[in-house]
Amino acid sequence: MTDYSYHYIFLAVISISLTATPRSIHHRSSHNIPCIITEWDDADVSHNQSSPKQFRLYHNNLEIGPIFHQYDRAYFLQHLLPQGIIPPRKSILPQPYTTTEEAALPSKNQEITGKELSDLLESLIREIYSINYRRSEYKDFIVIKQRDFNPKTHAGLIILKFKNYPFVVKLFMETPATFVSPFSKGFEPMAFFIMGSGINRYLSGFSRVRNAEAIRANICQSATWNDRVALPRKWFWEPINQKWFTVTSERLGTYGHSVRLPSMYAIICDAIDIETPLQILNPEHRKIGMELSRFLGARVDPHIDNFVIEKETGLIIIVDTECFSIMVGLREPLACSNYVNWYYGLCSKCWKDGFCRSKKERHTFQQQNCTTIICC
Ligand SMILES: Nc1ncnc2c1ncn2[C@@H]1O[C@H](COP(=O)(O)OP(=O)(O)O)[C@@H](O)[C@H]1O
Ligand SMILES: [Mg+2]
Repeated sequence: MTDYSYHYIFLAVISISLTATPRSIHHRSSHNIPCIITEWDDADVSHNQSSPKQFRLYHNNLEIGPIFHQYDRAYFLQHLLPQGIIPPRKSILPQPYTTTEEAALPSKNQEITGKELSDLLESLIREIYSINYRRSEYKDFIVIKQRDFNPKTHAGLIILKFKNYPFVVKLFMETPATFVSPFSKGFEPMAFFIMGSGINRYLSGFSRVRNAEAIRANICQSATWNDRVALPRKWFWEPINQKWFTVTSERLGTYGHSVRLPSMYAIICDAIDIETPLQILNPEHRKIGMELSRFLGARVDPHIDNFVIEKETGLIIIVDTECFSIMVGLREPLACSNYVNWYYGLCSKCWKDGFCRSKKERHTFQQQNCTTIICC
């Protein structure tokens, strides 16, 4: 027999044994795997017979904290967009930034009310639902970013700027079906889901307002950053006809968890007149990004385009206040001495969370009723 014959025999034996002893058809692969179940609130949506009522997601990386502890209704309502007059950012900047004519308080007929913004947002929602393809602008809005938005399912995150008002809107939409499809929203959301133990852009979006408050408080106390860094004001918004869905846990935590979530919300923030985002190829900008991230710790995503320089004031503005530790499931701070080792640390965390967790480690995290992720 030639040397090759032994190889063929070996392969034949392996294939026969695999096909002769297949996995039992009665064996449920998801038997011990944690699961979340989503469904519309009956009062909100009438079901047609053809679409399933419940949707399930089985995954070993699911955890209670990221899924069930992000939405706080009381906090959300306390930070809703006010319906009355909202002074534009330029009119409330402290000295010495209020230098130009434009920065003076707006006259009576220029006053902006939250009610006007809300009405425009209601019509934006109708427009978004009326089409199932991407557009670069809507009647009263210009799209800034829609990479994480699926126009066919109307789910994900879309960022827009009002055409006639100095505000930006970050709009989050989910349904019970899309909530349990973490691998249908592009590479980034997929990586966040793995690292963040079930997190998605919609859930981590709730952290943006609370985290902005915490960052602002830290900045105010710093002699180094207080005069150099600022943040846009941020408020929550929700449509008048909100629809709700419920998420419940199975084999997660030591008892059943459940949360009722709005299917749509937005964050309205001051639009920043951007001179330039910080640039990764500029050593001075990299230094600022890293120093600021080290100062603020795990609550800020050091991605360099999250920091921009504002026209006229020259202030460094942190536009993205999504809590970084929640997004990527940090249980300990990530080394942050330069961008190369930061990116390396992030990639190796993603690899470990996706492929190198022991069964025991996974089980420990799945059983926790509280989050073990560094809190913002
Ligand atoms: N308040 C704002 N004013 C002006 N531009 C903004 C504002 N917020 C976000 N942007 C622009 O949108 C981009 C994406 O916003 P960001 O909050 O960072 O979203 P993501 O979480 O998807 O990274 C930013 O890099 C910036 O260019
Ligand atoms: Mg960003």
